Amino acid sequence: MTRWWINGRLATMTPTGAYGLLEGHAMGVTGDTISAIVPMSEVVHGEVVDVQGRWITPGLVDCHTHLVYGGNRANEWEMRLTGVPYTEIARRGGGILNSVRATRALSEDELIEAALPRLHALIREGVTTVEIKSGYGLTLADELKMLRVARRLGESEGVRVSGTLLAAHAVPPEYAGRADDYVDLIVHSIIPEVAHQKLADAVDVFCESIAFSVPQCERIWSVARHHGLAVKGHCEQLTNQHGTAALARHGGWSADHLEYLDDAGIAAMAEAGTTAVLLPGAYYFLREPQRPPVEALRAAGVPLAVATDLNPGTSPFASIRMAMNLACVLFGLSPDEALAGATRNAARALGRADRLGTLEVGKQADFLVWDVQHPAEIVCSLGVNQLSRRVVRGEECHARI
Ligand code: NIG
Ligand code: FE
Repeated sequence: MTRWWINGRLATMTPTGAYGLLEGHAMGVTGDTISAIVPMSEVVHGEVVDVQGRWITPGLVDCHTHLVYGGNRANEWEMRLTGVPYTEIARRGGGILNSVRATRALSEDELIEAALPRLHALIREGVTTVEIKSGYGLTLADELKMLRVARRLGESEGVRVSGTLLAAHAVPPEYAGRADDYVDLIVHSIIPEVAHQKLADAVDVFCESIAFSVPQCERIWSVARHHGLAVKGHCEQLTNQHGTAALARHGGWSADHLEYLDDAGIAAMAEAGTTAVLLPGAYYFLREPQRPPVEALRAAGVPLAVATDLNPGTSPFASIRMAMNLACVLFGLSPDEALAGATRNAARALGRADRLGTLEVGKQADFLVWDVQHPAEIVCSLGVNQLSRRVVRGEECHARI
C-alpha cells in the first residue's frame, strides 16, 4: 500500500539547482522507502496526506556529535572567557579528561538520562539521523558502555544512530606520558571488541598536538580498516598536523574541523572523495581566529557537510539549525549549501548516501514537513520551531518530550 504525500513543495536536496526544488509533484511512500516521485496528476490510488503547500525536505542528519557524556564544563567556558586557552585547560588535566571522569562515574542508564534532553532537542528540530561518538570513556569497558548507550538511544527514540568509536580522543590519566601504550590498547583490544560486537560503523581520532600524532592515528586507521570499520578524523582543528592527507590515503569517510587545512590536504580529500565536515559551533565557542578554507574546498569539489559537534567542551549546543546558520554567517556557505551540508553531504560523511540524505526514489522515507515560506527560512530563523511533521522510516515520529 502506497501512501501519497501531496501538495508539497519538494526540496529534494539532490544537486540539481537550488534545494533540488521540485514543484507540482507527489511523493509516494511504501513501507519505509520512497517508492515514487511523480507529477500530481499521476497519483491515482492509495492513501493521501495533503500537506497543503508546505515544504518537504529530507530528514536532517547531524553527522558529528559527542552527545553522550556525564557532567558539564560551564566552569571551563567561564575560564576561557577570561582568556585561559582551551589547550591550557587540557594540559592542566581539564577539558576532555574532565568529561572522562564524569562519564566513567555514570552507569549506562544514568548516561541515557543525561543524553536524552540533548537528543530530544535535536529530534524536535528535525534530526532523523545522528552520529554519536564515544571518547569520554577511554577504557575498553567505558568505551563499550558509551557505544551501548548510543545504540539504545537509537532503539528507543525514533532516530537513526550511527555509532563511532573515538577511543583516541585523549590519552587517559593512567597512560599519562605513555601514549603509544594506550594506542596499543586501542588497536589490540578496543577496536577488535567494538568490531566484534558491531557497536560502531567507524573509528575516529583526535589528530592534534594535544592528542595523537599522525603516525599514531595511522596505526589506528589501518587496524580499523582491517576490522571492516570505516575511518574519520578530527583534523587540523587547532594546528596543521597534515593528518587530513594521511586520512584521505586511508579512504576516510570524512575529515572534520579543518581550520588549519592546507592545499595539499584539500587536494588529497578531493582525490579520495573524503567529505569535509564543518563544525562552526566549535569555531565559535573557541573564538578560533582561523576559518577553514571553505572557498578552496568548494573550488576543489570537496563535498561540504555541517554538524553541531555537540559536546560539553568546545560546542555545547544542541541545534543543527544553529549549526547551519553559523556555517552561513561565519564560513560563507549559502543556505542551500548549509541545508545540503546537514542532509545529502552529512549522509555521505556517514557512508549512508545510498539510502539517506535526499528525497529520491529508493531512499529511506525519512523526511520533514515545514511551516515555512521558503527553505532558506529553516537555516535563517532561529528559536522558532516550524517543523510540522517528522517521518522516520515511513512512520510519523515525534520527540517524546
Ligand atoms: O570536536 N576536538 C576534539 N574533540 C571535541 C572536543 C571535545 C571536548 O572538548 O570535550 C571537538 O571539538
Ligand atoms: Fe568533535
